[in-house]
Amino acid sequence: RNVKILGAPTDYGANRRGVDMGPSAIRYAGLADELTSAGVSVEDAGDLSVPHHATHDPDAGSDNAKHLHEVREVTTTLADAVSTALADGWTPLALGGDHSIAIGSMVGSARDADIGVVWFDAHGDYNTPETSPSGNVHGMPLAAALGVGDFEATDWANASGLSAENVAIVGLRDVDKTEAAAIRDSDITAFTMSDIDERGIVEVTNDALDVATDGTDGVHISLDLDWLDPREAPGVGTPVRGGATYREAHEAMELVAESGAMRSFELVEVNPILDQHNETAELATELAASALGKRIL
Ligand code: ARG
Ligand code: MN
Ligand code: MN
Ligand code: MN
Repeated sequence: RNVKILGAPTDYGANRRGVDMGPSAIRYAGLADELTSAGVSVEDAGDLSVPHHATHDPDAGSDNAKHLHEVREVTTTLADAVSTALADGWTPLALGGDHSIAIGSMVGSARDADIGVVWFDAHGDYNTPETSPSGNVHGMPLAAALGVGDFEATDWANASGLSAENVAIVGLRDVDKTEAAAIRDSDITAFTMSDIDERGIVEVTNDALDVATDGTDGVHISLDLDWLDPREAPGVGTPVRGGATYREAHEAMELVAESGAMRSFELVEVNPILDQHNETAELATELAASALGKRIL
């Protein structure tokens, strides 16, 4: 496998500043070496160019969807980079950045293929501008890529080859009220932390992969580091206790590798300002290696 690293240094979708430094933190943590040790060949395409904060248009967003104009710009750039990388035979690995970049990853990955998605996250990220309590777009990327609500009419956020029946969320434990109702009413399959407690990470992850591979050409793996317990991953903007353990996370990533179904990948929400000695970024590199086939023996 050949992996193309695409940095998306942006925090326009987030609740806290600093997550735009995630790509640097993950690189400094040794991502390229980790992936090489997983047996894949790696090319780092550097960072995509994103609009600068000092120049952004304060009227381009609204309280309902903050900085939507800038998010649109970043995700459009990323979508093109992802689809080009795929066409050239690479597995794109996007480094966030906040989770709004996933709109670009999914739109790009689903441009010339039918894809499924496995979304490892404490959150549903299924708000729309109408339902979001915060207005932060990192709480909306699944709704955006599925063309829900305000996103339906957009030409940039609605991923063509993606439908809700092929989306599985793993590790849910913090969902807004209207968001929970919307997830229940959708065709998304959602596994909460309580499902993991009851059935174990192996069964739940394999079920999620079944959902995402059913009738699709490949799977986008979206790994929000706040999926893990904050004790393992403190460097995130929206930590929620009771998350996946270190071992559960590695096991889940190993199952992703075993499935052979990964089409595109992203690591998001690593915020080095909030981190302790870059440990969340280091964890992100380790988990990426497991998802790309690193084994002990
Ligand atoms: N549900 C909350 C919101 O919509 C939190 C979203 C957190 N998302 C994330 N990718 N960290 O504001
Ligand atoms: Mn703005
Ligand atoms: Mn999250
Ligand atoms: Mn998220």
